[in-house]
Amino acid sequence: MPHDVSLIATIAVGFALAFLFGFIAHRLRLPPLVGYLVGGVAMGRFTPGFVANNELTGQLAEIGVMLLLFGVGLHVSTGDLMAVRRIASPGAIVQILIATTIGTLMAAFWGWSLGAGMVLGLSLSVASTVVLLKALEERNGVSTPNGRIAVGWLIVEDLVMVLTLVLLPAFAEVLGGNSNTPAGAASGLGLLASLGLTLLKVISFVALVLYFGPRVMPWMLRQVARTGSRELFTLGVLAVALGIAFASARLFGVSFALGAFFAGVVLSESDLSHKAAANSLPLQDAFAVLFFVSVGMLFDPSILVTQPLMVAAVLLLILLGKSLAALAIVLLLGYPLSTALTVSAALAQIGEFSFILGGLGVAYGLLPAEGLSLILAGALLSISLNPLVFAGTDLLVGWVQKVSWLKIHLEDGRAARFSRLQEDLEAARVALEAKAGAHKSYSPDELVARFALFAGLTPEQRETLALHFRPRNAQPGERLIRVGDKADAVYFISTGEAEVVVNGHKIKLGPGDFFGEMALLSGLPRSADVIALDFCKLLTLSQRDFRELLRRYPGMRDPIAAVAKEREESNRQFKERPHGGVTQPA
Ligand code: CMP
Repeated sequence: MPHDVSLIATIAVGFALAFLFGFIAHRLRLPPLVGYLVGGVAMGRFTPGFVANNELTGQLAEIGVMLLLFGVGLHVSTGDLMAVRRIASPGAIVQILIATTIGTLMAAFWGWSLGAGMVLGLSLSVASTVVLLKALEERNGVSTPNGRIAVGWLIVEDLVMVLTLVLLPAFAEVLGGNSNTPAGAASGLGLLASLGLTLLKVISFVALVLYFGPRVMPWMLRQVARTGSRELFTLGVLAVALGIAFASARLFGVSFALGAFFAGVVLSESDLSHKAAANSLPLQDAFAVLFFVSVGMLFDPSILVTQPLMVAAVLLLILLGKSLAALAIVLLLGYPLSTALTVSAALAQIGEFSFILGGLGVAYGLLPAEGLSLILAGALLSISLNPLVFAGTDLLVGWVQKVSWLKIHLEDGRAARFSRLQEDLEAARVALEAKAGAHKSYSPDELVARFALFAGLTPEQRETLALHFRPRNAQPGERLIRVGDKADAVYFISTGEAEVVVNGHKIKLGPGDFFGEMALLSGLPRSADVIALDFCKLLTLSQRDFRELLRRYPGMRDPIAAVAKEREESNRQFKERPHGGVTQPA
């Protein structure tokens, strides 16, 4: 070969096999994710044929994890999390404890060390948010209360796992693995010191990102969005996601994953978060696929034959152990059976965090390689079975509805608590919308509906234009423009009326009209006073943005210049006969 093409080969074969098996999985009515994992198995060293470069795939997978977690962070809705916290936090934490204990006991039975057992147990205790979101999407359940509870529950799990990932290196040696931490000593003091240092780093990183992030990042994205270049915007989003992740790993020793997650959280507060999510999605999809492929590569399928009982035990813990624990917790907290069953079905699988944790466990010498294969077998099987589990819960809920005493005890009697939670979720949604509304002017479509002037723009142009406007409210009698002043902005009236006073003449302007354009076009001082007549909602465009608008959309210049010219003409006539009166707009 003329030069080293292993990266190209890895990406090309990875995508091709993932696509092939993903498509087959889809045809078999399985989640495509199963296909990606199988694609990985096919290019791994345990199967004949092409063997991809492990090192490269690992790095590509890491980008996948960063982007996945960035996506999870972007979708974290603080309002939703607060609304479901009473069920999700105790639920997720107690369920993780139960599942980890069962896993540790199971491993102890196999003769594994405590550290190996804990890593295995923790890996099996956390379900995949990615798999759940896909399952809910297919069932149209993402925005239902039960769906939002399940997502909240899994996000709490993710947060616990992020903490575990950060703390694992500090604990590795004391649990019987090898430690790379600088303190390096297994003594109590060494552990405490390295633990303290790790926590200090994480806390300072999180504080820094949460303090500066919301002040800088959304502003930066807004500036980029205003350029109207989709390419620059996507680049900006990726730079923020990967940049924060990389910098956090370099400067604070925090994992890439945690950094990317917080980058997402920071941007989720911005009103551009949907656009950011939409633009980064294709890349996120592609690299997430490579992540699943790389996980598949590590899987040794022979474990299914050599250790069928161990695989069965792991699968049983994922499908039944976790789900029954969650079912009991939700019912004990007083919520209806249908909620409990949705959460149980959501939990009956494992995914990305299990792989990451398992991989880290192996790297730190805590988990035997066999453990990772077991986790992978568990993931492959449980993800494949997940649609069946959801279908099973549907049947069960239907059956409970028919059996009246069960319905009374497990559904109707618990409706009050559920509806309280539903109200909280609704309040969270309303608050989120109100918050978004406070920042934004109008959606691109609303803008066009109000101002016929913009009807000729393409949807993309409208979107960029909408970002340039600043909303402003005015009180009755408020002077918006003073004659003779220097011009700084142009105004668009969306509701209310304003009065232009020029040479004693008064001209009323209403919704859909604009003013302040004459001085901007001519470079002269303001030609008239403009006063709000009642409570007005206005949109303003700064001088710079107005010029930019005319430059970028030349079609806009003529109609605006025509209005200005007409107004100038009437003002000339007013000068000739300067007696007052209310005139209709020119
Ligand atoms: P400008 O001169 O920047 O500031 C005052 C604004 O009042 C002006 O731009 C126009 O938008 C508006 N204006 C001035 N004269 C008239 C008119 N005769 N009819 C309607 N609007 C006017």
